[in-house]
Amino acid sequence: MRIGVIGTGYVGLVTGVALSDFGLNVICMDIDKKRINDLNNGIIPIYEPGLKDLYDKNVYYKRLSFTDNIQKVIEESDVIYIAVGTPSKKDGSSEMKYFVNVTNDIGKYINGYKVIVDKSTVPIGTAREVKKIISNKIKIRDVNYNFDVVSNPEFLREGKAIYDFTHPNRIVLGVESEKSANIMKEVYRVLYLNKIPFVFTNFETAEMIKYASNAFLAVKIGFINELSLLCEKVGADIIKVAIAMGMDGRISPKFLHAGPGYGGSCFPKDTKAIVDIGRKYNENLSIVQATIDSNENHKNRMVQKIIKTMGSVEGKTIAILGLTFKPETDDIREAPSLKIIPKLIENGARIKAFCPEGIKGVKQELSKYKESITYCSDEYQAAKDSHAIVILIEWNQFRGMDMQRINKISRDNYLFDFRNLYYRDNNVDKYFKYYGLGL
Ligand code: NAD
Ligand code: UGA
Repeated sequence: MRIGVIGTGYVGLVTGVALSDFGLNVICMDIDKKRINDLNNGIIPIYEPGLKDLYDKNVYYKRLSFTDNIQKVIEESDVIYIAVGTPSKKDGSSEMKYFVNVTNDIGKYINGYKVIVDKSTVPIGTAREVKKIISNKIKIRDVNYNFDVVSNPEFLREGKAIYDFTHPNRIVLGVESEKSANIMKEVYRVLYLNKIPFVFTNFETAEMIKYASNAFLAVKIGFINELSLLCEKVGADIIKVAIAMGMDGRISPKFLHAGPGYGGSCFPKDTKAIVDIGRKYNENLSIVQATIDSNENHKNRMVQKIIKTMGSVEGKTIAILGLTFKPETDDIREAPSLKIIPKLIENGARIKAFCPEGIKGVKQELSKYKESITYCSDEYQAAKDSHAIVILIEWNQFRGMDMQRINKISRDNYLFDFRNLYYRDNNVDKYFKYYGLGL
């Protein structure tokens, strides 16, 4: 069986590489010629732990190849994954143009029975629409090919993408025929044999499961973030609160870590998209909407916390550690840094910024603030002569900083630890005016 993957971003590339490691023959395609050129020359365009090793192995065994020719992928594949981006439009709805372009091309080049797999996160009703678009194209071409559509949402996390793809909690498959269900079982044979639960359902349910999962996780984070600020006022400790809450099996300890606001390419986008879908069907998803508003507000509250504690940031230098939206990725989409840095600058601060993988992206995204930001080569250079240090993202290397050294090279010694990395660290109060979150 030959697999085609259209779109080689975080999801498409991981899907292609991991499926080739399951022993399947995979051809990945992207419209971005430079990306394909890089992939054909051993260069991985994203930072994702473990990806390069699997890529090297499967390219070596000739199970994995790359092209920018969509016709070739469609004609040569039995199963075609669509994994292109579906970013937010200004009104919160999903931008479907990339996805629709691919669907049109499939209708144009289909040359026999294929299974078309929707891997991108798409509005409910999309799989049915894909079926219509391809059927219409086939009719116009006056040919007679059969095909099936499958909705197969992806639940991987960036930074843990390979592990998540190869050890999923469940595989969700919206199907309409036994034939396509059996083909998908064959594609995921390794997982099926490993007793990973498979949920077979209709298109709409599969599409809804994806949005419901992301929205629920976002609500959970929004909840703990709001509670963290209340904890500070009433003298409670958010870490203990979260641990004890999580001991209740009905709640679970996961996704109860307070932080400066969730970011990434998915929670912000998918919460807005499901609210937009609700609006179209006259159903007000007020809890999800409140989470979106709360998350935006939370980033402002982080800035206010710094300003209030320091009196003012006018003329002060602030070291920002962690620019990506989470550790172990180079993805800066909707990262808290993109909101917090400009607000500090607007209040008169200068920024010294460091992140193991996020500098390139943030430099581009915040180019209009370039006079006020110095990008540094490590956390110590960032801390040097800074009045305050702000930890935004929990990269491992920020967990074991030499506090005595930082104390000596920085000024004023404020440490705002918005990931509570130094919670209960005996040294921290010796060297810093320490402010965790929710403590
Ligand atoms: P991405 O932006 O990293 O990659 C999308 C890729 O699609 C780009 O390389 C782009 O050049 C390519 N593309 C666009 N139009 C194309 C076309 N016509 N033909 C071929 N390639 C084309 O996006 P991503 O983060 O991988 O997300 C893809 C989808 O998966 C989204 O719907 C997203 O919501 C969903 N998803 C993402 C994650 C994640 O962790 N990033 C997890 C689960 C689901
Ligand atoms: C998230 C989901 O976890 C994946 O299941 C899903 O497939 C993906 O979105 C998607 O649809 O794209 P991801 O965005 O890669 O994955 O990363 P997460 O680990 O979920 O973190 C998202 C944001 O929430 C980050 O900004 C992170 O810092 C924040 N977060 C997470 C917290 O602030 N606290 C937590 O306890 C957990």
